[in-house]
Amino acid sequence: MTGLLTDAVWTVARRFPTGVSVVTAGSGPTARGTTVSAFCFLSHDPALVSVCLRRRSKVLELLRAGFTVNVLAGNQGSLARRFASRERGTDQFDGVDWTPGAAGIPRLVDTVCWLDCLSSQVIRVGDHDLVVARVTGIGADPERRPLLYYAGALHPLQSEEP
Ligand SMILES: Cc1cc2nc3c(=O)[nH]c(=O)nc-3n(C[C@H](O)[C@H](O)[C@H](O)COP(=O)(O)O)c2cc1C
Repeated sequence: MTGLLTDAVWTVARRFPTGVSVVTAGSGPTARGTTVSAFCFLSHDPALVSVCLRRRSKVLELLRAGFTVNVLAGNQGSLARRFASRERGTDQFDGVDWTPGAAGIPRLVDTVCWLDCLSSQVIRVGDHDLVVARVTGIGADPERRPLLYYAGALHPLQSEEP
């Protein structure tokens, strides 16, 4: 694919609306999180989901021991930005509200929902890895509305519940 076509694909991809999640993994001093839009429900029974991460993501190496997908609420844009930052040497969770979930993995509070996951397959897809995972635990707050990512910006969902 030419660079021109790659650019065109990204221009179109930016117009595709998604939710915004933070994938957390590890515990204690090894805990890390990263912001993702590429989270997907794949199968109902068994319950399978996927996340797609850049191959050099610092979180990828931690996923084998389990991870949590924290689906952000409309007022959590600052968390999306914080966990998308490549700044190193700072505690990503400093000042963030979280509780220890399965295996001590940080679970962010006041999200729309969270899913504890165990990876079952990692598939190389271009410069990303697609992680397919089994859902082992789930929780949701039906009162909270999601944060959306569209046209390169974060937007709280505005419309009424259908
Ligand atoms: C709204 C939003 C969505 C993102 N979605 C993804 C994604 O699906 N996959 C990915 O690899 N990076 C995604 N990123 C970029 C990562 O969050 C960012 O590159 C991060 O610094 C990677 O850190 P890491 O190396 O610790 O994983 C997204 C960033 C933002 C702001």
